[in-house]
Amino acid sequence: MPRPTTVHVCSACGHSSARWHGRCPGCQAWNTLVEERLPAPSTRANRRVAAAGAAAPGRPVLLSDVSTAAIPRLLTGIGELDRVLGGGLVPGSLVLLGGSPGIGKSTLTNMALGNLAAVGRRTLYVSGEESAAQVRMRAERLTSTEGRGGALSVPVLAETDLDTILATLDAERPDACVIDSVQTLHAAELSSAPGSVAQVREVAGRIMQVAKAADIAVVLVGHVTKEGALAGPRVLEHLVDCVLQFEGERERTYRTLRALKNRFGSTNEAGVFEMRDTGLVEVLDASARFVAEATGKPGSVVLAAMEGTRPLLVEVQALVSPSELVPPRRVVNGLDRNRLALVLAVLGRHGGVGVGSADVFVNVVGGVRVEEPGADLAIALAVASATRGVALRGPSGDGPIACFGELGLTGELRSTAHPDRRLREATKFGLRDVISPESTPTLRQALQVAPKTTNKPERAAA
Ligand code: TYD
Ligand code: MG
Repeated sequence: MPRPTTVHVCSACGHSSARWHGRCPGCQAWNTLVEERLPAPSTRANRRVAAAGAAAPGRPVLLSDVSTAAIPRLLTGIGELDRVLGGGLVPGSLVLLGGSPGIGKSTLTNMALGNLAAVGRRTLYVSGEESAAQVRMRAERLTSTEGRGGALSVPVLAETDLDTILATLDAERPDACVIDSVQTLHAAELSSAPGSVAQVREVAGRIMQVAKAADIAVVLVGHVTKEGALAGPRVLEHLVDCVLQFEGERERTYRTLRALKNRFGSTNEAGVFEMRDTGLVEVLDASARFVAEATGKPGSVVLAAMEGTRPLLVEVQALVSPSELVPPRRVVNGLDRNRLALVLAVLGRHGGVGVGSADVFVNVVGGVRVEEPGADLAIALAVASATRGVALRGPSGDGPIACFGELGLTGELRSTAHPDRRLREATKFGLRDVISPESTPTLRQALQVAPKTTNKPERAAA
């Protein structure tokens, strides 16, 4: 009988068992057994190395003597991606690109490889999800724009067997390789299904060994469900050098790319893209676009938000309208629904602005998601302005006003991260009136500052 190559280990108590059990025989916990690979059987040579004192001692080096030759980077030619990576792909590194299905991971990686191929780099696109023909169809859409001629010169391998992929990597030795997606690959030694924790960890671990040995920059694409639950990306975060998250709403055009972990750069960078029918286009002037489109009408305010440590100006709009429904509607887009409930309560109690039984709609324009408490003040000002039917104008009376700040339950404004960067961004785009916790400590004061010049009030709420 062949020697078993795997063992099932309880992730709670460490009990190991040759067979899988739904309930751990050691600690009785449910669903904690995970299949793991056994170490290679001990041979005489293995035993010699393992014996203490058999290995020659290493030679520690003073940090000041360590050479820091700049690592040459592979530029993907997509400015926003290179910036989030910290200046391009590092040879021999492993990047995990996570995001929900349909967000554009394959499109982004196809474009990056195409650009690399166009400047003469060796590339490989491993597709476990789509056939080579499907990959080609996407690449054709991308080549329909000028300057992306490389997308069709990327070699593609439609394969899910890990051993075949590793052998191909070793034979081809590309400079950059994309594995789309890590959840579809299958290591033959493990009986668990592709995408399970054990499989994903095994696949990533072995790809990493080959990548480091052959100096290949590998991008692992991984799907994340809404809850971040699907086995995979989460368990890989400690293993890879860089974790990128691609987010946005599928139906909307704007996408943001963030670094959650980066051994070769800052984790504070974020890139903004727009999905067009010819692929992803970098949005370099997102703030300028949103400010130019801001209406400045009753119910509109500009929020100085943060995307990582990059400030971003977005327009927040509110509409308050009489309702026949009980309870009335509270609809938000791009913001946290619970924050709206909180802001409405604080507005009523401490700001003297009650929306009563009216419907309230609040929207971040452009499909951008702003999930930070710093958006509270913008929601409050937009709703107050919509309720009163008065456009917001600051002391200078010039242009729309910008704001940021968290709302406390007692009506105070609490400061949020990076007030200086938010202020600078607002000033840069010509917004002279900025309401922030630093200048205005309470909501009541903020409400007095804002609607200074009044348009003709058109009362919205009953
Ligand atoms: P895709 O990159 O396949 O997403 P993922 O790999 O993250 O699952 O593409 C996502 C969507 O984008 C898909 O529904 C089609 C659309 N799309 C465009 O709008 N324009 C394009 O040029 C391409 C290639 C895709
Ligand atoms: Mg895909």
